[in-house]
Amino acid sequence: MGKYIIAGNWKMNKTPAEAKELIEAIAPLVKDATCDVIVGVPFVDLPVALEATRGTNIGVAAQNCHWEKSGAFTGEISADMLQAMGVGYVILGHSERRTYFGDTDVTVAKRTRAALDAGLTVILCVGEYLEQREQGITSEVVDMQVKVALGGVSREELSRIIIAYEPVWAIGTGRTATDLQANEVCAHIRGTLASLYDDEAAKAVTIQYGGSMNAGNAESLLAQPDVDGGLIGGASLKPADFATIVAAAK
Ligand code: 13P
Repeated sequence: MGKYIIAGNWKMNKTPAEAKELIEAIAPLVKDATCDVIVGVPFVDLPVALEATRGTNIGVAAQNCHWEKSGAFTGEISADMLQAMGVGYVILGHSERRTYFGDTDVTVAKRTRAALDAGLTVILCVGEYLEQREQGITSEVVDMQVKVALGGVSREELSRIIIAYEPVWAIGTGRTATDLQANEVCAHIRGTLASLYDDEAAKAVTIQYGGSMNAGNAESLLAQPDVDGGLIGGASLKPADFATIVAAAK
């Protein structure tokens, strides 16, 4: 399946000085990782994160980008600006952006297009609300999110797409999806990718699980055949816990 990738999503946490300290604590603990390791930091922490990760095996992600290259969009950051700084990855479509800041499948698709055009790798987040799971429409919801976001994405560009399946009800709640629930949806997404592209392309995509993944439950989640990594919130701010999750991804 896809290459194992463990990414931290720090959300709106850590000042630049704190970010430097956290990366310096994480780096020695993950230096022998057999998976890819990424930290997704607030925009203002990007310079210090790029500096602190230089010469390490840790990649740096931003947590969003705008779809235009520049212009009258107060408060926004473009994909080109991230690329110019040396940022390699961007998290897009996180449920917190969709829920609190009005991101939609369509704007996530536009952001994805801009990020790919700028040469970035996208961590595309999808996932259902609890009500949707209870209604039995999880597959339809994630299919819609995946299909709209990847609408204009070529088979070649798919190598710069990582998908993070994050059931909204599991984010920050301590309520993790079961191993089987996580695998079921990740496998479903892979099937959808196969229908959009082909089997070989679908197999090569890293599909992460996210939602209360921690040092205690990571190993069994990551052992599932269609779970190729994790997008980690709270536990990514704790160096030892994050390193335990990274070590479990093999
Ligand atoms: P938690 O790991 O804190 O549940 O957050 C998951 C998440 O939203 C990662 O993007």
